[in-house]
Amino acid sequence: MPTAPSHSPESSASRQLRALFGSGRPLLYIVSAEEQRVCRLLGDAARGFFEAPVPLWSWSLTEGLRRDGGDDAPPGGDTTDARAALDFIAAFEGPALFHLKDFHEPLRGGADVRRRLRDVYELCLGHGRFVVISSPVRLIPDELQRDILCIELNVPDAVEMRAFLDARCAAITASGGTVNTSEATLAAMTRALSGLTLDEAGFAIARARADGNHLGPASLPALFEEKRLSVNRTGTIEYIADGGQLDAVGGLEVMKKWLLERRALFQSRDTLGADMVPKGVLVMGVSGCGKSLAIKAIAACFQLPLYRIDMAEIFSGRHGSPEWAFAQACRTMEAIAPAVVWFDEIELGITSAASAGEQGRIFAFFLTWMQEKLRGLFVAATANRIDLLPAEMIRKGRFDEVFFVDLPHGDERLEIFRIHLRRRGADPSALGLERLVAMTEGWTGAEVEQCVVSAITRAKLADHALTFDDLMRCAARIVPLSKTMKEKVDHLRDWARDRAARASLPA
Ligand SMILES: Nc1ncnc2c1ncn2[C@@H]1O[C@H](COP(=O)(O)OP(=O)(O)O)[C@@H](O)[C@H]1O
Ligand SMILES: [Mg+2]
Repeated sequence: MPTAPSHSPESSASRQLRALFGSGRPLLYIVSAEEQRVCRLLGDAARGFFEAPVPLWSWSLTEGLRRDGGDDAPPGGDTTDARAALDFIAAFEGPALFHLKDFHEPLRGGADVRRRLRDVYELCLGHGRFVVISSPVRLIPDELQRDILCIELNVPDAVEMRAFLDARCAAITASGGTVNTSEATLAAMTRALSGLTLDEAGFAIARARADGNHLGPASLPALFEEKRLSVNRTGTIEYIADGGQLDAVGGLEVMKKWLLERRALFQSRDTLGADMVPKGVLVMGVSGCGKSLAIKAIAACFQLPLYRIDMAEIFSGRHGSPEWAFAQACRTMEAIAPAVVWFDEIELGITSAASAGEQGRIFAFFLTWMQEKLRGLFVAATANRIDLLPAEMIRKGRFDEVFFVDLPHGDERLEIFRIHLRRRGADPSALGLERLVAMTEGWTGAEVEQCVVSAITRAKLADHALTFDDLMRCAARIVPLSKTMKEKVDHLRDWARDRAARASLPA
């Protein structure tokens, strides 16, 4: 791949590396599963970061040292042995980059290797020689902690992804295929690939061109599908492909109006002052009243992809420490921007006593991140147990608005009935739904939906068209949450009354 011409924008990974080499630290450790990408970045670095191009030596356990990706081995014998490779580096004169692939194994193995690496540190310091270890796992022996700077590569940003896409397009054209190279198409494909590693992007492109050697607007669904699969593999972030629309949400008129106003502001974010750009919204309230539904509708309304951060997974410990997993998820989201990021049931971690100390740090991190994150991310957080959230979270200025979603009032319940009846092919107009208002006092939207589903099933089984009687009989059997958990629901409503804006118009 050609080095990017100097006038084109630099990718954030490249900027990050440039700054690190600029700081003069001779030992770097890059935690990344993307070895190819690290090779490419270091190749660009060797060619363009220094006053004059410097040689790039790469080492692997199977090949030993090789120069500039070619077959050139160093004179003087076998360097597949890690110690021999370090001896070569220690004796090297003049500026150079050394890339040690999967060097965590030798580090784990030999005390002499660890000792020799400390010598290498001294010998490279200040001489324009840099040693970069890359490995999918982070393994730095204690005695080297101070000498080695460890970084993680974030997923490629738009600049890096676009360069990768351009290279793939050129390869497709060279192999006799066709590519729609209009700027709009390439930009849309770059956005579709955002959030993926370059390897994953490569698979996505291969999948998209599988039917016919062509890449164009028609390839986008295949790219999105591959992205859904890849992002979901992170385990903590879920790409949600099928969000609903705002008109699938019954009631909540105040919040809907607010969102429509914010949409315009968000879409002109590049020309607005920082404090004008919408940052996000916190939606709390009784469970089953449409919080999740509303968030999905935000993404559709803003015409942005929606990603859900799974707090249960973050706190599960399956993805490293919760703190680390959370920070990692936030950073990944920055690379995926523009997008709506949804922190679902954000209070979840708070109730788990096991991670008591960590929660505080996670919330502190979250609040800072909210202030500093990219303009292209709109944060939507939902919470059921708002009383568990730290006060700073709710204070004005963190989120643009904090909405309380209450139990739907009569008119809202009717609207929710209509939405769910229509969705299932029933005509609500002739059913005389108004008669249900009194019977459904205190119901959540989820309970309304449940009633509609049971009634339609009942009518189907009896082989007649849905009637009011079906609805009424099913309604009579539903015991609403607000009854069974009265204290909890009342407490929540009291708590929220003067702390949050109501999402609904008054009854
Ligand atoms: N206001 C509403 N309008 C339409 N459907 C609703 C509404 N509230 C709840 N529902 C139905 O109930 C289901 C569960 O609601 P959900 O949004 O998951 O609740 P929450 O996230 O507040 O617990 C939704 O998928 C939807 O079908
Ligand atoms: Mg929910």
